[in-house]
Amino acid sequence: MPYPAHVKIVEVGARDGLQNESTVSSEDKIQLINALSVAGLKHIEAGAFVSPKWVPQMADSLDVINGVSVAPDVVLSALTPNLRGAQAALSANVKEFAIFTAASETFTQKNINCSIEQSIERFKDVVQLAQQHGIKVRGYVSCVLGCPYEGDIEPEAVLKVCKQLLALGCYEISLGDTVGVGTPNKVKSVISLLLQHIPIDKLAVHFHDTYGQALANIHSALELGIATIDSAVAGLGGCPYAQGASGNVATEDVIYLLQGLGIDPQIDLERLAKAGWAICDALNKSPVSKVSLALQAKCAS
Ligand code: HMG
Ligand code: MG
Repeated sequence: MPYPAHVKIVEVGARDGLQNESTVSSEDKIQLINALSVAGLKHIEAGAFVSPKWVPQMADSLDVINGVSVAPDVVLSALTPNLRGAQAALSANVKEFAIFTAASETFTQKNINCSIEQSIERFKDVVQLAQQHGIKVRGYVSCVLGCPYEGDIEPEAVLKVCKQLLALGCYEISLGDTVGVGTPNKVKSVISLLLQHIPIDKLAVHFHDTYGQALANIHSALELGIATIDSAVAGLGGCPYAQGASGNVATEDVIYLLQGLGIDPQIDLERLAKAGWAICDALNKSPVSKVSLALQAKCAS
């Protein structure tokens, strides 16, 4: 199959990235999201309405989302684990909710304190509220290529949860390699099974880069026709309930790959890299993205 003609990037750095970094100020987060918008990103996950005791880094999501100033065609989304989270997201005027569960029972318990079935039950209220207000709902399935607690995950378990989320009313399912353990053959076997039951335009990939396989895995997904990719500027972050997991694949690296494949995601790579450098300065760390580091060295020379 040829590569998709267009690829949608879902930028998750301000949520997935910053949820697992030391806390930065709300103003730094606002600057980051504004800068991502200026770089051309149209889908930005801006925060999470989760328990501040569980993830204190996301406690200011309401202030952050209320404070940003993005292009009118930018879709801001946020994690909404339950009705309370969805109500808060609604008050922040987010355009898309994201519900999240997993293909692993143990991870689901550790991450959202309930079973997979209970999570699906919980999400019914979230989806109902979203539908009442014309808000789209995205679903995440974590641990699709492996679990930090259970190890290998059967592709059939992934399929089952994807079907449940689609039946609830999710318009898209993002397949999370939460711990970044997958390799291209595993990607192919899981996605090939899903494609026997689920239209391709309903699937996205969300790969963490712990073992350095995320770009290779994304390339495999592109070869299968997947056209929505989640990534985090500068390769920030990870999941606080997946010990040892490093950040998402870096958006800069994905954009460079896409450009090389002849797919133009219409994102200004230099501006994107600058957004990454600014938030990394605030975090007092270097970007993980190789493309970002190469551009930084080029600018310095
Ligand atoms: P719980 O403890 O089971 O629920 O939490 P609860 O209803 O008993 O509430 C406990 C406390 O949280 C109460 O406060 C509630 O008021 C409060 P207390 O009485 O103790 O003071 N609470 C809330 N506060 C603010 N907003 C809310 C909310 N709900 C309850 N919405 C809950 C259940 C899901 C809330 C909790 O487990 C939680 O917040 N977990 C955090 C999960 C999380 O954010 N994980 C990281 C994101 S997922 C991820 O990174 C994976 C992904 O990137 C894909 C991938 O990589 O695979 C998406
Ligand atoms: Mg993630």
